[in-house]
Amino acid sequence: MKLVVFWAVVGLCGSSFSPPVVNISLDDPAELRWAPLVKIFDKDFLRKAAAEVIDSTVPKWVHYAVHPVVKALEKYVPQPYAGEIRGMSSFYQSDISDIILLNFAYEVSAFCTSIVAQSSKGNIYHGRNLDYPHDILRNLTIDILFIKNGKVAYRGTSFAGYVGLWTGQSANKFTVTGNQRSKGHWWENVISAFLLKSSPVSWLVRETLEEATDFHDAVMKLSKVPIITDVYYIVAGVHSKEGVVITRDRSGAADIWALDWVMGQWYLVETNYDHWLPTPKRDDRRDVAMKALNATGQNNINLRSLYQVLSVVPVCNRITIYTTVMSAAVPEEYRTVVRETCDESIFESSIID
Ligand SMILES: *[C@@H]1O[C@H](CO)[C@@H](O)[C@H](O)[C@H]1NC(C)=O
Ligand SMILES: *[C@@H]1O[C@H](CO)[C@@H](O)[C@H](O)[C@H]1NC(C)=O
Ligand SMILES: *[C@@H]1O[C@H](CO)[C@@H](O)[C@H](O)[C@H]1NC(C)=O
Repeated sequence: MKLVVFWAVVGLCGSSFSPPVVNISLDDPAELRWAPLVKIFDKDFLRKAAAEVIDSTVPKWVHYAVHPVVKALEKYVPQPYAGEIRGMSSFYQSDISDIILLNFAYEVSAFCTSIVAQSSKGNIYHGRNLDYPHDILRNLTIDILFIKNGKVAYRGTSFAGYVGLWTGQSANKFTVTGNQRSKGHWWENVISAFLLKSSPVSWLVRETLEEATDFHDAVMKLSKVPIITDVYYIVAGVHSKEGVVITRDRSGAADIWALDWVMGQWYLVETNYDHWLPTPKRDDRRDVAMKALNATGQNNINLRSLYQVLSVVPVCNRITIYTTVMSAAVPEEYRTVVRETCDESIFESSIID
C-alpha cells in the first residue's frame, strides 16, 4: 500500500500559499457557471493537469475501455452536475468523458485528517488536511464562493475541474469535511452511482451545504442519503457540543460519534479508519494528532492552534495538498493554505480565542 512510503519529513524549500478565490454564481445556468476558472487557469495547463490525474489514477486500458461507457452515462448524471461538467469540458476543450472520469477519479484515494474541537468557552473549531498523491493538485486548489441572489450561499475548497466539495462551510450554520473510507475500486463507485442512482459523496456535501437549515439538519442529510461509496463525514456547528463524525456505509450511517462534554471529550479526530478500531501501526496520524491536541489543551484551542496541530508531521506530510481551518460561527475566518511545507508560521488569523 502507498501509505508506507509517504512520510518523509519535508525540507524547508518552497513556501505555502493561499489558493485563488473564485466566485461561482448559482444564478447562472449550470453550463456557464465555471467560466471564471478560465480567467485564473490557463486552458492548456488545466487540460494537462486533468490528463495527469486521470493517467495516474485510471489504468490506461481501463481509460480506453470505459471511454464509450462513460460517454453513454452522461445522460444519467443529474443536474446541475451534468450541466456543470458539460460546461467544464467546453472551457477545457476536453472530451466530456474525460471530465466525468476526472470527477470520479477524485472520489477515491484521498487520505485525510479532520478534527473538530470545542474550546472551554464553547466555541467550535473544525480543521482538515487533504492528502492526495498528486503534486499538481497544489496548483489546482481553489477556494470557491457559491453565490446565490448576489450573496454567498456557501463556500468550499476544491480543485479546478471538480464539481463536488470535500470541504465546505454554510455561514453561521455548520461546516463539513469528508474523509475517505473506501475499500472499493472507483469503477464500482461509477456503477453504484448510475445503477443505484446514489450520489457521489462530494456532491452530497454540496447539496447539504446548499439545503440544510442547521447543524442537525445537515447531520441528518449526511447520515441518510444513499451515496456511492463509504466515507467519513465530519460536521461541526455553531453551538456547544455540535460536533460529530458520521461513519457512512453506502446506504446509511454505520455510526455517529459526537463530542461529549460530560465525558470531557472536547475533540474528535478522524483520519481514514473507523474510530472504534485501532489504527494500523504504519499510519499513526490519529495518535499524533490526539497527542498534539492534548498538549494544546481545551483552554488554548482556536483556529491558530488547530492549524498548528494540523502542521505536525505526519498529520501533515509529503502528500498533504492543503489545510483548511474554519468555524461556522465566525465564517469570515475560513482559511485554506496550500502546503508546500508543513511549516506552521505562515498562518495568520485575527481570531485568537
Ligand atoms: C465574490 O463575491 C463576494 C460576495 O458577493 C464579493 O464580496 C467579492 O468581491 C466577489 N469577488 C470577485 C472576485 O468577484
Ligand atoms: C505549480 O506552479 C508553480 C508556480 O507557477 C510552479 O513552479 C510549479 O512547478 C507548479 N507545480 C506543478 C506540479 O505543476
Ligand atoms: C489524550 O488525553 C485523553 C484524556 O486525558 C487520553 O485518554 C488519551 O489517551 C490521550 N491521548 C494521547 C495520544 O495522548
